Order: sequence, then C-alpha cells, then structure tokens
Amino acid sequence: MKRLVVLISGRGRNLQALIEAQRAGHIPAQFAAVISNRADASGLTHAREAGIPTEILPHAQFPDRAAFDAALAGRLRALRADIVVLAGFMRILTDGFVREFEGRMLNIHPSLLPKYAGLDTHRRALEAGDAEHGATVHFVTPTLDSGPSVIQGRFSVNAEDDAASLAERVMERIELKIYPQAVAWMARGELKLQDGAAVLRGRRLAQPATLADLEEAFR
Ligand code: GRF
Repeated sequence: MKRLVVLISGRGRNLQALIEAQRAGHIPAQFAAVISNRADASGLTHAREAGIPTEILPHAQFPDRAAFDAALAGRLRALRADIVVLAGFMRILTDGFVREFEGRMLNIHPSLLPKYAGLDTHRRALEAGDAEHGATVHFVTPTLDSGPSVIQGRFSVNAEDDAASLAERVMERIELKIYPQAVAWMARGELKLQDGAAVLRGRRLAQPATLADLEEAFR
C-alpha cells in the first residue's frame, strides 16, 4: 500500500473527499498523516475524525522558507510518504523541496491552467470575461502552478456568476471529483511524471484528462 501524506492550510474539503474515496475503497493507499502549517486549519478535524495522524508545522516558527521546507521534507521522509498531496496548502515551496518530491507530489488549482496561476482565480476569470472556468490537478514542479497537468474539469460561466458562485461550482462539480481520481491513479501506479510530461497508463498526456475520463466511482 502506498503511503499518502496530505498537506493543508485551511478548510480541507478536498481532504475530506480524499478520505471518503479512500474509505469507499476507491483509493488503494493509506493515509500516513495530514500535515498543516496552521494550527487552526479546520480541515484537521476531518483527519482527526477519520483517525488519521495529524501534525502541525507552523511556518511562522521558522526563520525562513528554506528552514520550513527542510523541516517539512524531514517529516515526509520520516513518514515514508510515497505520494504528497497538496490540498489547499498555501505555501510557496522552494526548488530544492520540490525536486526531492518531484513525480510524487500533486497539487489542485482552481483555474483552467495555464490560466491564472496564483491567487484570486475566480475573480480573474470573471474580469477576463471567460466563457469557461474550472480546476486542474497537476504535478508539482519548481515554477508555481505550472507543472504538467493531469486532469482538468470545466463548466460554462453564467451571466449571473460572481466569484463566490464560481468558487462553489469549481469545488463541488470539479475539484471534489478530479482530485480523488488523480490520487487513485497515482496510488495504483497508473499516473507518472516522465521526461517532464504526465503519463497515464503509458500514454503521454498532450492534453490533461477531462471529466469524461472520470471512472464511475469518481463521477
Ligand atoms: C481549493 O480551491 C484548491 O483548489 C486551492 O485551495 C482550495 C482549498 O480548499 N488550492 P479546501 O481546503 O480543500 O477546502
């Protein structure tokens, strides 16, 4: 069984979806731990209720980014993490950290990458007048929100949408489905990072997978 470590900073809806999918037997892996950089992250409750060990690594207690990342890498090594899942982990990671876990670390981002790396994605999509919006799971590489995309889900933006309604739809319709699916692919060894590209069941993904590729269990 592969060992998952999920990193969070906040609410943990993605974490909760991963816990539910794992419990339903759809993700063949075990949770080694959930680590938060904030003691008050409400997502920690989901982990505790599921009996998953939790750890808090308060970034403010470290002199700089490199020291925090060194401590985090140390914990991931000690936990023997096979797969590192960033689920609303609001920290920019140093290149050295990313390289150590490259190919084993996924992130979910609430936009149709490569559009809108960084924050405020829903407002930016609205301001640009985009007809579609969505979310993307990608491998983490040193440039922020820019690693090879694995799966992306999209929907049409309505005239009455605001940033809050988009955020809710992105979460409900897209994130909570595509992240458990991507982590299941990783857990089964079907998804890999090879020569800088995402490879799913031996096929290099020139385009990310879509909602149409979700297996029954993740729809
Ligand atoms: C999600 O929108 C995710 O895409 C982004 O941060 C948010 C985390 O939400 N990276 P939650 O903590 O999973 O509820």
